[in-house]
Amino acid sequence: MVLMAIFLKKKPESLYEKVLNNLATAAMLLDKDLKIGYLNPASEMLFEMGRRKALGTPFQNLVSAPDSLINNMRLSFNTERQFSQHEVSIELGKKKTITVDCMMNPLMESNNISELLVEFVQIDGHLKLAQESRLVEQQNTSNTLLRGLSHEIKNPLGGLRGAAQLLEKQLLNNDLKEYTKVIIDEADRLKNLVNRMLSPSIPLKKKLFNIHEVVERVRALVKVQNKHINIHRDYDPSIPEIVADPEQLIQVLLNLACNSAEALDGQGDIVLRTRAMRQFTISKTRHKLVVAIEIIDNGPGVPEDIKDKIFFPMITGRVEGTGLGLSIAQSIVNHHGGLIDCISEPGHTVFQIFLPLEECGAE
Ligand SMILES: Nc1ncnc2c1ncn2[C@@H]1O[C@H](COP(=O)(O)OP(=O)(O)OP(=O)(O)O)[C@@H](O)[C@H]1O
Ligand SMILES: [Mg+2]
Repeated sequence: MVLMAIFLKKKPESLYEKVLNNLATAAMLLDKDLKIGYLNPASEMLFEMGRRKALGTPFQNLVSAPDSLINNMRLSFNTERQFSQHEVSIELGKKKTITVDCMMNPLMESNNISELLVEFVQIDGHLKLAQESRLVEQQNTSNTLLRGLSHEIKNPLGGLRGAAQLLEKQLLNNDLKEYTKVIIDEADRLKNLVNRMLSPSIPLKKKLFNIHEVVERVRALVKVQNKHINIHRDYDPSIPEIVADPEQLIQVLLNLACNSAEALDGQGDIVLRTRAMRQFTISKTRHKLVVAIEIIDNGPGVPEDIKDKIFFPMITGRVEGTGLGLSIAQSIVNHHGGLIDCISEPGHTVFQIFLPLEECGAE
């Protein structure tokens, strides 16, 4: 790319610009004061800056870059040497920071350096992708483990219950029947628990529907049981109808919303937010359109000691919790080809569900 740019500099300007303008890599030309003489559209997109504002302005005045990067740019210019710097964090505004690898290349013209060609390759996109695939991998492993374990428990449990029933019939002393009743009741309780664990494997009954019908159902159900919790709606009406299993999605959202309500202990705020997101990657697949459903609460946050494992079955931070709600939710979302994630700190917990639209049948 660098060689090509140097080579093309000698060519008519239109071709030189045409190539740079069509590059997916962000590239710009800086003069000795690091003023921007040219930036390609990929740069405009990466740095979220308009060409008019950028041209003629020193790079360091447009974004908040570390001193080391600015020094390296100057050094590259003054020493006429190529420089590269990895994992540079650049602040684009108050809320956005990007991480890039940066290559600095002095362009020579009749033995003098004319400009500095700087290329930026964003790498935090890759980091996010890696994190996501790790999450999906982790979720798949936990599901396989769960299914295997459930079957292993269910079979002997049936035998145990049957034997207790036979024993009960043989017992003449009614007092002793108390004990067989305990065995039968506890076996039933365990069976229900295991059935809950296995329920996500029920085949999906897909149909076309508006995601907001499902979110509204959940809102009404949670509201009835939690009169003092304010449930706010923040819906994106542009989301097209999706093809998915509405009953199973209700279960997902209900599990998450109930967790929020429980964390709020009867008082606080829950926000139900929906968004359409374009060009979103789930498990290495880039989707044109993804529906994001978020359940946000201002409760105390997920306890620090279980933060990394809340999607695993039987992990609970509540005395009366079974620790299955999130693992069931995650399994259903995975069946839909989606992803579930959590960001939590005291006062602000967000559970996000991403459902790909193409996967659901709509484009
Ligand atoms: N919104 C939230 N705020 C704070 N902690 C949460 C939130 N959601 C989940 N958690 C934590 O994650 C744990 C696991 O949640 P999960 O729904 O899997 O199980 P549970 O709620 O304990 O039991 P159940 O099987 O009845 O749902 C919870 O016990 C709680 O400690
Ligand atoms: Mg729960």
